Amino acid sequence: MASIALLGYGTVGSGVYEILTKNKETISKKTGKDITVKRILDLREFKGTPVENIVVHDINVILEDDDIEVVVEAMGGDEPAYTYAMAALKKGKSYCTSNKVLVANHGPELLKVAKENNCNFLFEASVGGGIPIIRPINHSLTPEEILEIDGILNGTTNYILTRMNKEGLPYSEILKDAQALGFAEKDPTADVEGFDACRKIAILTSLAYGKNVKFEDIHTEGITKISNEDFKYAEAMNKGVKLLARSWREDGKQYAIVAPYMVGEDCPLSFVSGVINAILVKGNMLGDAMFYGSGAGSLPTASAVVSDIVEAVKNKGNHVPVLWEDEVVKVCDHAEIVSNFFVRVSDTVSKDDVKKTFSDVSFCEGVVPSEYAFVASGIKEGDFYEKVKVFDAKQILRVM
Ligand code: HSE
Repeated sequence: MASIALLGYGTVGSGVYEILTKNKETISKKTGKDITVKRILDLREFKGTPVENIVVHDINVILEDDDIEVVVEAMGGDEPAYTYAMAALKKGKSYCTSNKVLVANHGPELLKVAKENNCNFLFEASVGGGIPIIRPINHSLTPEEILEIDGILNGTTNYILTRMNKEGLPYSEILKDAQALGFAEKDPTADVEGFDACRKIAILTSLAYGKNVKFEDIHTEGITKISNEDFKYAEAMNKGVKLLARSWREDGKQYAIVAPYMVGEDCPLSFVSGVINAILVKGNMLGDAMFYGSGAGSLPTASAVVSDIVEAVKNKGNHVPVLWEDEVVKVCDHAEIVSNFFVRVSDTVSKDDVKKTFSDVSFCEGVVPSEYAFVASGIKEGDFYEKVKVFDAKQILRVM
C-alpha cells in the first residue's frame, strides 16, 4: 500500500480524492499498489463527509509521518506551497502539484532538491489541465529538437472567447460562469490578462529546451480589450480570435509571446473551443503533433495529478530525471518579432496614407459603421507600433 497526503481540498484536491476512490481498482492494478489518502491538510473541517477523520491543520503531521510517501498539493500560489514542497522533498517524499505559479517560479530548484533526495517533483497538471503534455515533452519527444510550441493554454479565456463569438455577450458576464464552473483562478486577473498562459508557456519552453525561460521575460497581453466588434471582423475574414501562447527558436534566438490572435482555419488551433486547451508542438524530425483536451476544471486537472501520483508511487526511491537547468535563456524583446497586425481605424483615416506607411497591407470594410480595418503583414513589432501611432487605432490584434 502507498499512503499519500493532500494539501488543499478545493476544486482540484477533492477531484483527486474522487478519482482515487472511484477508480481505485483500475489505479491499483496499473500501479501494482493500493493508494490511500491518509491525510488532508485544509483550513476547513469537512464535518459529516467521508474525509472528516483524516483532515489535519498542521503540515508537520504530514511531514513527520514516514508512512506518507507522496505529498499532493492543489492549493495554488507561491507560499506556503514553496515551503511545503521544499520540506516534503527534503524528507524524500515526492511532491505532485497542479500549481503553475510554484512550478514557473521554482521549477529548476525543486527538481534539483528532488534529485538530491531520490524522489520526484511532478507537475503534469500545471499545464493544459488534463492533457498529457509535460510527460510527453520529457519522455516521448526526447528524440526531437523542438522548434516551436503554439498553445491555447488557458481554459477560462478560451471559454469566454468562444461564448463571446457565439452569443455576443461581453467578456465580464461570461467570466462569472467560468468562475462558477471552477475553471478560473481565485483571482481571474491571471486568466484574463494572460499571466496564467504566460506561466504555462514558460514551463513548456523550459522543458523543451532544458534551460530556464522566465515568465517575466515574455511579452503578455490578455483578452480584456477584445470587443464584440472584433468578432464581426474576424467572421468577415473567416477567422476566430484565440489567446495564443507561443514560443519558438530561430537563428539561435528564443522568442515567446502571449496575446490574442486572429486565427484562420489553416491553423488547427482555430477549431479549439470552450474550456478545451490544445498544444501544437513542432519537432525537427516529427513535424507537428497536437495535444488536445480538457484544459481546466476539477476532474480533468485531478486526472493529471493522479497520473503523477501513480508515477511517484511506481518510482519510490528513484528520481526520474527531468532536464530543466536554472541557467536562464534570454527571450528576445517582442519588438524583434515579425508579425501580421489587424488594425481598426476610423473611416476618416486615409487609405492612401495606410498604404504608404505599410508595404504589405490589405483592407476589410463594411463590417462596423464609420470605420474600417486593415492588415499589415510581415512587419517587426517595434517598427509597427512606431508607425501605427499616427492612425489612432481603435483596436490592434495579431493575425496568425
Ligand atoms: N484557470 C486555469 C484555466 C485553470 O482557466 O486554464 C487551469 O490551469
